[in-house]
Amino acid sequence: MPMLVLPCHLPPLNTTEMARIQTSAATVADDVIKEFIRWRGDAIGVRIARAPGRVNLIGGHTDYNEGYVLPMTLGCSVVVAARARQRGCHRVRSEFFAEDINIPVGEMPGRNMPRWASYVAGMLREIHAMHGRAAGLDMLIVSDVPIGAGLSSSAALEMAIGIVAADLARIHIPPKAMARIGQQVEHTYAHVHCGIMDQMASRIGMRGHALFLDCRTLETRAVPLARDRATIVIVDSGVRRALAASKYNERRDECARSLAYFQRLDGSISALRDVTPERFQQHRHGMPARLQRRTQHIIEENTRVCESVKALEVGDLAAFGACMWRSHVSLQELYEVSCHELDVLVEAAREIPGTLGARMTGGGFGGCTVNVVQPSAAPQFCDRILAAYYEACHRPATAMVVNENIEAGIVPWT
Ligand code: GLA
Repeated sequence: MPMLVLPCHLPPLNTTEMARIQTSAATVADDVIKEFIRWRGDAIGVRIARAPGRVNLIGGHTDYNEGYVLPMTLGCSVVVAARARQRGCHRVRSEFFAEDINIPVGEMPGRNMPRWASYVAGMLREIHAMHGRAAGLDMLIVSDVPIGAGLSSSAALEMAIGIVAADLARIHIPPKAMARIGQQVEHTYAHVHCGIMDQMASRIGMRGHALFLDCRTLETRAVPLARDRATIVIVDSGVRRALAASKYNERRDECARSLAYFQRLDGSISALRDVTPERFQQHRHGMPARLQRRTQHIIEENTRVCESVKALEVGDLAAFGACMWRSHVSLQELYEVSCHELDVLVEAAREIPGTLGARMTGGGFGGCTVNVVQPSAAPQFCDRILAAYYEACHRPATAMVVNENIEAGIVPWT
């Protein structure tokens, strides 16, 4: 059944790609079908899937250390309309990039393909390799997830493609397995050694809840968000840094080196998640100072995620906010993945009455902050934070109030 969902509400503050926020599943389906018909002449046999972007409330860089994270889905999403075609070639159109490409079924993405196309080719190729039943597809992609902002536009793209491709091939891919395929695509085709959080959040995240995820076992728990008392506001600094991917991989390497050190002390440790605060204190001085900082962040951040979940479950928003502030300082000083613009945004948030907590979110070196604000203070928060940012950084930011978050799945249409 079509579900009527009101996703992100964009305050009339600043217009960027975020302005193209859709309002309901029915509208999404209507628009994308019209577009498909304009492209291919009819929409017979078309299936539509969508998968949302995500924001991570807390748990920065813990996922690839088999730790805990607390993301939630957003109201913006990637929508994919597709149907099987006779030829052994996928014909793919991205509305956002105004580009068409052809990908031979089961082939690696060509070297000169645009980046978005390698996610498409990668997903289709992996599904084809695992299940051997993928036909050539006509595929139209529409997205209102901001790109490069750390809101998982690529994970949403992967999940939407996976859902529609599996549906058309009549194969069942369990959500966690689908998330793993998406992660594999990032590693193999985009060369970003990301954790599992983004794909899990986009594929499994539930409406009205955040997703408490144990990145070792992939166990999840839906954590209710007290929306009557807390509004989530995402602020995009507009900063996109080319070095972000290489710095991300560098942090992963540093964690691997720290892990190797602790494994020499105790063979039962299989991820930094297993290093207790006591063991860390006892042995930290055997490691270079930089690795000590990285490890300390991971250990303490895992604790903060668990404290945050407890706080949210008993409705203690002040305690949750306190964890967020601490998380930011740790990402800034110990993990060193923040940047001037993100620090300006978090400091400005601290000064605005009604702000319960704020931190950078995503991989870092640019992108967004996530803020928890008292609902009545949200409009003023947006005005003030944008003004403060412009004054300090001489560039505009964008604020997005998350009024509703959506779930991934097939979107019915008639
Ligand atoms: C990126 C990665 C995630 C995660 C975050 C940091 O979003 O894709 O796997 O590591 O950074 O928390």
